[in-house]
Amino acid sequence: MRHRPEPHLFVVLGGTGDLASRKLLPALYHLAGAHSLDFAVLGAGTRDLGDDAFRQRAGEALAAAGLGGPTATAWCAQRLHYAPLPAGGDFAAFAARLAEVEAEHSLPGNRVFYLALPPASFPATIAGLGEAGLADSPGWARLVVEKPFGRDLAAARQLNRLLHEHFTEPQVYRIDHYLGKETVQNLLVFRFANPVFEASWNRDRIDRVEITVAESAGVGSRARYYDGAGAVRDMLQSHLTQVLTLIAMEAPVSMDADDVRAEKVKVLRSIRPLDPARLVLGQYEAGPTAEGQLGAYRDLAGVSPGSRTATYAAATLFVDNWRWQGVPFHLRTGKAMAERRTQVAVTFRSPPVCLYHGVGDQCVAHSDVLYLNLQPDEGFELEIEVKEPGDTPRLRSVPLRFAYADAFGPIPEAYETLLLDIMEGDQTLFVRGDEAEEAWRLYDPVLAADLPVHPYPAGSWGPAAARDLLMAAPNWAGGG
Ligand code: BG6
Repeated sequence: MRHRPEPHLFVVLGGTGDLASRKLLPALYHLAGAHSLDFAVLGAGTRDLGDDAFRQRAGEALAAAGLGGPTATAWCAQRLHYAPLPAGGDFAAFAARLAEVEAEHSLPGNRVFYLALPPASFPATIAGLGEAGLADSPGWARLVVEKPFGRDLAAARQLNRLLHEHFTEPQVYRIDHYLGKETVQNLLVFRFANPVFEASWNRDRIDRVEITVAESAGVGSRARYYDGAGAVRDMLQSHLTQVLTLIAMEAPVSMDADDVRAEKVKVLRSIRPLDPARLVLGQYEAGPTAEGQLGAYRDLAGVSPGSRTATYAAATLFVDNWRWQGVPFHLRTGKAMAERRTQVAVTFRSPPVCLYHGVGDQCVAHSDVLYLNLQPDEGFELEIEVKEPGDTPRLRSVPLRFAYADAFGPIPEAYETLLLDIMEGDQTLFVRGDEAEEAWRLYDPVLAADLPVHPYPAGSWGPAAARDLLMAAPNWAGGG
């Protein structure tokens, strides 16, 4: 059951950055109106701005998100404040400013601190907040940490240690915005509220699972961050691994945060670390995409000359437990791909005996495939075999379909769901400290390896070098 959020101050560290403008401020504005919530926003950043200049920028961000207008301007004027916080800044002065804003709005000292910052600034900011006593507020204090959570297992452990020096685990919300997507949350409902599927959800009935997160856009203006990260850190370790976890986990004792997260950790612990031989990396070259002609990744401003950063990764993982032993989980993600599609394809085993034959008496091997379409065209499709009308027993695959848009209309933005959960103190959709470390453990062997990075043209389905993997995963969205 949802609890109504208590009045609080929402502090955005990195308040003038890209994430704040594109996602956080529009989500906060929308939440304030849709739920009549009582909160004020304090943006903090290295820019030397006053409240008015910040409100102006926020107004522009809301307008760019299609939310502009007099109500938005009035909300910015009444609810938004700014505090400059230069690198190495004075957190004691920041704490005083924060108390001032709280007093102005008669807020009781409940605080969210959202680190919408480059990862390199996390340690100093966490320590600064802690040392200024901001982890212990008169009400509650919650700290939100954006991904990537470290850059390998050792860094994630170090970041967890630092967080726990100043904050307790129940105060920490590690964000993976995929968990806020309705369709991703629905994976658990689909499985655990529909026993018809759950009874077949195992190695006896399932042949393979293919998870795709293909993006048609290139890296764009984020190259400075991306060049130090690449597809394995940016997407595979976080979003795709989270989706895998929800597909593979056991039913939790309850839907409480701790019970759900305990099952996620258990399944992550069962996964064999990725064998470098089962990973194909690629980097996009110039080419035509759905969004027009795209230049090569290495020509972007901010990419180091001769960069070997992967913009594509395809990998096969195995879950070594009773339910999944031997079932391959094929994971693929790429920038500048032929289309934007996030999809899970679950292929069931073929019938044990061939009763239907095609031309030349060859067996018609068919398997039912369940497509869970996470975005766009949210919904699912179960592809089953039917008999074509006529004298000859010819089979055809046809889909049984469900579309979110037909049943429910527009779906809420992931960030809105997650911000509301933070305000309510619900950690179910956030990554626990040990879970983040387990997810890094899977990729540590490949992060340390010197692997080839194969070129692929923008607008394609990835490098030819992924052919063997593609053949093993023929239901990957869009084919090979
Ligand atoms: C982010 C990654 O976490 O997710 C981006 O850093 C990626 O590189 C984005 O583009 C994809 O999110 P979505 O919601 O558009 O699928």
